Amino acid sequence: MNERDYHDRHYEAEAAAVQGTALFERVHDRAARQFLRSTRTGREHRMLSLGCGDGSIERRLAPHVGEIVGLDISPVAIDQARTRSEAAGLRNLSFAVSDAGSSRIDGFGRFDVVAAFAFLHHLSDAQISGALIAARQALRAGGAFYSTDPNRRRLVGHFAGCVRATYDRYHSPDERELDPDLLAALAGQAGFTRPVIGYVDYFLGPLAWLAPATPRWLVPALGALDGLALKVPLMRCYASSFSLLARAY
Ligand SMILES: C[S@@+](CC[C@H](N)C(=O)[O-])C[C@H]1O[C@@H](n2cnc3c(N)ncnc32)[C@H](O)[C@@H]1O
Repeated sequence: MNERDYHDRHYEAEAAAVQGTALFERVHDRAARQFLRSTRTGREHRMLSLGCGDGSIERRLAPHVGEIVGLDISPVAIDQARTRSEAAGLRNLSFAVSDAGSSRIDGFGRFDVVAAFAFLHHLSDAQISGALIAARQALRAGGAFYSTDPNRRRLVGHFAGCVRATYDRYHSPDERELDPDLLAALAGQAGFTRPVIGYVDYFLGPLAWLAPATPRWLVPALGALDGLALKVPLMRCYASSFSLLARAY
């Protein structure tokens, strides 16, 4: 099965059951806050979001950003993104079906920031390089590139074998965890400067997929614990997800 078919089926069938939960809401609320804090994106900025899925993070960002264009390879995801942003009355969001794993992004103009939330790890290394080059070309001078991806060194990865069936169900055939240093090096080769790695999720993201029925009352405590683990210096590099922030000059 290819990426597009996998994600079409996921968004058609089971996404609502997992992504509408309190835990998932918390994960996406935090992803939006971390992005705004790291990139300092504001109402004066245009943003491009690669692999935007159903636009859940983009809807959270919409009140804080001038304009957002979301691209995704899955027509089902883009349909949902459009329907939900319209239903929420958000007029500064637009979405298009597009393969963002190529080295050209044409027809959308220039941007102040390009984001890729949980997207790059669906591409091969060669495609990541192409996507980074395309992102740099789409950015204005001084613009920011920001991505989040699962971390190859993550501690929770040691437990994947215990939940193999769930892991396989929620992972597309092409995705894998990424090495933060390798991604920073690929960003450098694509012409970005000052790549900075951050750690954005310790266990909350994987838990949202594994235990969607986690009661709402438990979520704040789990969130606080996760935030604490991200602050411990020797532990943070084993977090489940990392971010990359780099500048185009
Ligand atoms: C893990 S989901 C992340 C969705 C969203 N950014 C989020 O954080 O909820 C990965 C997304 O990347 C999309 N995708 C995979 N390969 C792609 C490609 N080559 N071009 C554009 N989108 C792609 C999938 O359809 C899917 O929506």
